[in-house]
Amino acid sequence: MIELDRGSRVFTLHTRNTTYQMKADNYNVLLHTYYGPRIGSDDLSYLIQYADRGFSPNPSQAGEDRTYSLDTLPQEYSTCGVGDFRLSSIEFERPDGSLAADLRYAGHERRPGKYALEGLPAFWGGDEWETLVVFLEDAAAQVSVELYYGVLENYDLITRCVRVVNRGTQAVKLRRCASLCLDFQGEDFDFITFDGCHTLERGLNRTHLRPGVQSVESVRGMSSHHHNPFVMLCHRDAGEDHSLCYGAALVYSGNFLAAAERTQLEHNRLTLGINPWHFCWTLEPGASFTAPEAALMCSPNGFGQMSRQLHRAVRENLIHDPLQGQQPPVLVNHWEATEAHFTQEKLLGIARAAAPLGIELFVVDDGWFGKRDDDTSGLGDWFVNERKLPGGLNALASRLKELGMSLGIWIEPEMVNEDSELYRAHPDWALGIPGRPRTRSRSQLVLDFSREEIRNHVYHAIKAVLDSADISYVKWDMNRSLTDVYSAALPAGRQGEVFHRYVLGVYDILERMRQDYPHMLIEGCAGGGGRFDLGMLYYTPQIWCSDNTDAIDRLGIQYGTSFCYPVSSMGAHVSAVPNAQTGRATPLETRGVVAMSGTFGYEMDLSAATQAEKRLIQEQTAFFKEHYELIQRGDYYRLTDLSGPFTAWEQVSPDRREALVSLVYGPNRAASPFRALRLKGLDPKALYQVNGRETRRGDVLMAAGWPLPMPTGDYQSLQLYLQAV
Ligand code: DGJ
Repeated sequence: MIELDRGSRVFTLHTRNTTYQMKADNYNVLLHTYYGPRIGSDDLSYLIQYADRGFSPNPSQAGEDRTYSLDTLPQEYSTCGVGDFRLSSIEFERPDGSLAADLRYAGHERRPGKYALEGLPAFWGGDEWETLVVFLEDAAAQVSVELYYGVLENYDLITRCVRVVNRGTQAVKLRRCASLCLDFQGEDFDFITFDGCHTLERGLNRTHLRPGVQSVESVRGMSSHHHNPFVMLCHRDAGEDHSLCYGAALVYSGNFLAAAERTQLEHNRLTLGINPWHFCWTLEPGASFTAPEAALMCSPNGFGQMSRQLHRAVRENLIHDPLQGQQPPVLVNHWEATEAHFTQEKLLGIARAAAPLGIELFVVDDGWFGKRDDDTSGLGDWFVNERKLPGGLNALASRLKELGMSLGIWIEPEMVNEDSELYRAHPDWALGIPGRPRTRSRSQLVLDFSREEIRNHVYHAIKAVLDSADISYVKWDMNRSLTDVYSAALPAGRQGEVFHRYVLGVYDILERMRQDYPHMLIEGCAGGGGRFDLGMLYYTPQIWCSDNTDAIDRLGIQYGTSFCYPVSSMGAHVSAVPNAQTGRATPLETRGVVAMSGTFGYEMDLSAATQAEKRLIQEQTAFFKEHYELIQRGDYYRLTDLSGPFTAWEQVSPDRREALVSLVYGPNRAASPFRALRLKGLDPKALYQVNGRETRRGDVLMAAGWPLPMPTGDYQSLQLYLQAV
């Protein structure tokens, strides 16, 4: 609900459990007055204190009042160069070379429904949304800034985005344009980020916000394995189930900057948006720029509640489900079994072993096209390699159909190998700086997806493949960071636009693919989880979580990922042991338990599986199919963090009649102590039958717990299925 008090110019946004407020003051500065647990719509500007602070300057309108300074007041969207020395949200260069921005309130509008963003992914929905637009203006620069707020009350979700318009007669260069700025007075926060590297993504890091700026960012042209565009602020005592925390996620897949600042007055500011590094967007007179959307979530009751609200909002208002609620197919992918060295017979051998085990989809990964026997050649040549797949994908699809399986394929549309027909025909299509040799990574170059003709060419080639057979799934991969970022299609003064135009180009093709094949499942991937963000999830309902399939490492990766992203979005497969990335051997049961808290599938040579393994795999796929609704759409509870002797989590159905508890032990030790696991989210009064046997009340299971069997070896696991009787 949006409440507007015209007299005091206070704008209050209410969601079910939270309230957000801003106010235009006497000098038309838009102040941020509150974001936290739900309260009334009182004007909260009484909390703001005015005091003369040394070296905090005063705007001319304040006259002799030295207590009024943009440097000390909580700002809704911070400016630069005119008195606020903290993190700025916006920076633009006027024709005279000046870099200041001074924004003042110029009006507002309340609109029913959700605002739309052209060419950018965003949360969607209908009547349940409300929109507030606040218009700000820099009169001297003739630049206006529109702040958009989407309120999705029942999900506790507030979305924000920003549109900058040049209303002057000369071009303006936009150098920074954050999607959100959030100021807090009088709080002592921890800053939580999700960081890592290729094969070890999204590890949780929590630090006390100390004086100065702490930030995470990507300059790789993708959101990256290294830092995620989702960050949190929380009270120092906040934990899984208590105290106040905030989450902020950028709906964007390119360079980002998330910065948190603790100021001289011990205030805190968070900004999140496109990374200003190498960003410069020219706004001709009348032109506008729209920054990506950011999503905000506040939980008065700890991280768990925040994650559950985010999961629901993302599942129901961001992801487009091509299967419209139906169970996603259990898949087998041959990549870890064969890499690019395969024959049709080898693939069919795996498929023949997989089909009777309940596996429904066969994914042909990298290597089916062009001259592609390893990663040094063939990228860009999107036509079937008939030496490997005689009769093409259609012949393979028919053979799979006979086995009761459908076909999926891997693609990497954004890339090209120099050893490819595409590169030989169009060497100038790769990103490259004139006069400099191009930088290779995985022996490949990046196509300039900011250029429409290049995108069109690639998409037409891929579309011909998709139309050549019955293909129900596509894995869209991306296997290198961007370097040599320069587009031959843009003049020198506009090269600062290429990173963002590239991302817009990727979104353009993904949107076309989504429109052209509305029932096809697209899985995102960037060398595993290098582009695991809400921008990609808008187009690809699931993303390959990591190239690391080791069940124990995956516990950490999936734990960190779960803070923002739902189980249904996490691509997770059972692979062979010893694991290809870590050399670790874990039981097949455990690998199944971990992969099952994701999209679930197999990535191993099933034709080599033993009878005992096959029996277990059959049980796993049957269990997943029976409970997929609970697993993928249940409320997700983290029962432990990663520091103890085991890691446990739980999915509870929205009506609390069912729950699934999963637990994985670490390395075993002699004389393990007796332990019990306390469950969460159950109906305290309900009687639950556990694994079809013993019954216990919900309050007992939550307060006293369930006794854990002593493990008899390393990395064992258990699952408890609870059903109210
Ligand atoms: C990286 C992906 O993450 C892998 O799953 C696999 O598809 C390879 N690329 C193929 O090149």
